Amino acid sequence: MKAEEAVNLYGMDIISSSGMDIEKECMQHGRTSVFVHSFNVACLCFSIAEKLNLKVDKKSLIRGALLHDYFLYDWHVNDKSHKWHGFTHPKTALINATKDFELNSIEKDMILKHMFPLNLSVPRYKESVVLCISDKILAICETLGIKRFRYDLKR
Ligand SMILES: [Fe+2]
Ligand SMILES: [Fe+2]
Repeated sequence: MKAEEAVNLYGMDIISSSGMDIEKECMQHGRTSVFVHSFNVACLCFSIAEKLNLKVDKKSLIRGALLHDYFLYDWHVNDKSHKWHGFTHPKTALINATKDFELNSIEKDMILKHMFPLNLSVPRYKESVVLCISDKILAICETLGIKRFRYDLKR
């Protein structure tokens, strides 16, 4: 199965949620919205797991990745509430995601620990480690405008 198909299969309720409409309006890195970033990260997580033949819970891997930056504000806008965005946004994302979706312990760990090692809480599951790596690869590519790991978002 292609990564995009898997992400759409397991994450359609998330992708079509009103929270994701907010993510579409908020920029993440460079010209990439938080929504597109999250979709790409979920696809890359799935691809890495497939390539390395990792025994992971693929549905949780995709859902945790889609929601990892579910903080729902534009961090480029100057505002006291997100002054420490780099450190605080995983917790904000987890609180928002818990309100809107039913999350299991893998998905919660993925969201909360995805900024490791900037945040010192150590990932507990393989899925969280895959997310940490994928998120950093995409952050670099998006910031530098490198057109690799861009997946086909048919929406
Ligand atoms: Fe993040
Ligand atoms: Fe991210």
